[in-house]
Amino acid sequence: MKKPLLILFFGAIICLNSFAQLSQQARDSINRLSSEDHQLMMKRLGITSLRPGPSGNPSAPNAANSDESKASPYTGLPDPLIFEDGSTVKNAMDWEKRKAEIAGHFDEEIYGQLPKNIPGVTWLVIQERDSLIGDFPVKVKYLKGQVDNSGFPAIEVAIDLTVTTPATSSKPVSMVLEFGWNFPAGFQRPAQVGPSWQEQVLAQGWGFAIIIPTSFQADSGAGLRAGIIGLVNKGEPRKLNDWGTLRAWAWGASRAMDYLETDPNVDSKRVVIEGLSRYGKAALVAMVDEPRFAMGLIGSSGAGGAKIYRRVFGEQVENLASSGEYHWFTPNFIKYAGPLTPNDLPVDAHEMIALCAPRPVFISVGSPEVEGNWIDAKGMFVAGVHASPVYELLGKKGLPTNEFPPIKTNLDSGEIAFRQHEGGHTVGPNWPYFIEWAKRYFGKEI
Ligand code: GCU
Repeated sequence: MKKPLLILFFGAIICLNSFAQLSQQARDSINRLSSEDHQLMMKRLGITSLRPGPSGNPSAPNAANSDESKASPYTGLPDPLIFEDGSTVKNAMDWEKRKAEIAGHFDEEIYGQLPKNIPGVTWLVIQERDSLIGDFPVKVKYLKGQVDNSGFPAIEVAIDLTVTTPATSSKPVSMVLEFGWNFPAGFQRPAQVGPSWQEQVLAQGWGFAIIIPTSFQADSGAGLRAGIIGLVNKGEPRKLNDWGTLRAWAWGASRAMDYLETDPNVDSKRVVIEGLSRYGKAALVAMVDEPRFAMGLIGSSGAGGAKIYRRVFGEQVENLASSGEYHWFTPNFIKYAGPLTPNDLPVDAHEMIALCAPRPVFISVGSPEVEGNWIDAKGMFVAGVHASPVYELLGKKGLPTNEFPPIKTNLDSGEIAFRQHEGGHTVGPNWPYFIEWAKRYFGKEI
């Protein structure tokens, strides 16, 4: 097989399966193609070596730091309320201008530029059926967002989306839109204790939608010449400030929002974007990119999401810039793992939260005992603290304290909420708290 074909082939495979379910041979090929693309980007950046990231295995000799006393105090955290020329942001009008400065850096150095020539999407309802989730009768629509590929027919792209609304509701309902994992047929989901988040949402009279990010952009460097990124680039490698998969996934969520606006069962003014882990990072990018999302539930997003990049605790920029994760970001980001350092970043994660203001954002994380320290709960809390002045400038409330709270403390008095639950790498135990908080904004609907 010729190389572009091979890349398209693997792009397709990765779209269909999650990495862990692939054969060893397929995984090796994905790793090899990812490394080749990573090397190419390094070459174009003029970089010959990178600092290696610490290990996620706590018992490894080079384990990531999990000792708070060694989480060296980061310096030079950019102040979201100071313009680059040193003047102060005094009001909402100033903030609009400052926002453009901040967003410009995230585009150029971290998540990549949103292309100007992204082809259009046509939504098709593939199937519609009545179903029952727990005790709730629902209407489920299976949709495909067909991307116009007339500019480069060799690459086909479609977005998978399901939309579930209460069958009994006579008016448009609030929604949670989740970035969902693509579990292969036969996959055993972990046993559910208590009602699922979907049942909890339905109990409020809300609906939910699930978008499958890997249906339109694979989760690997090997997939970058296929999917929506590959289609826009006509199968060529990325330019140094091109978008990464996080921004591409967020773009898909915006297209899902286009559909939701047309669905008579949905109140598109009240849509929450939610995701966990890498999809928590994507949910934060989607909140920033898409003003139509009313609220964000950002689950265990960690490094590359809501965690301060400069903090030496848990996952580091060096991990994100490696061949296994660099595809989430723009190629330019790689240089912060050598020769530059995270302290050279013109922005930090607190400013991503600030860019969501004044809309409500709930930052969720698990317990270090169960989830581990890789995610860095405190790094995300601190980001919320440093985003709070922006919310306050806009007449809203940020976090109520600068002190990192004990686990299970529900900091939900403002538009930035933070809660560390007792469980592992899931939003699970935080759903009831999120729903109570969100109800203040959405009202009770039953
Ligand atoms: C890895 C990665 C994290 C990511 C996580 C996930 O642990 O280092 O950045 O959030 O995978 O998505 O599950």
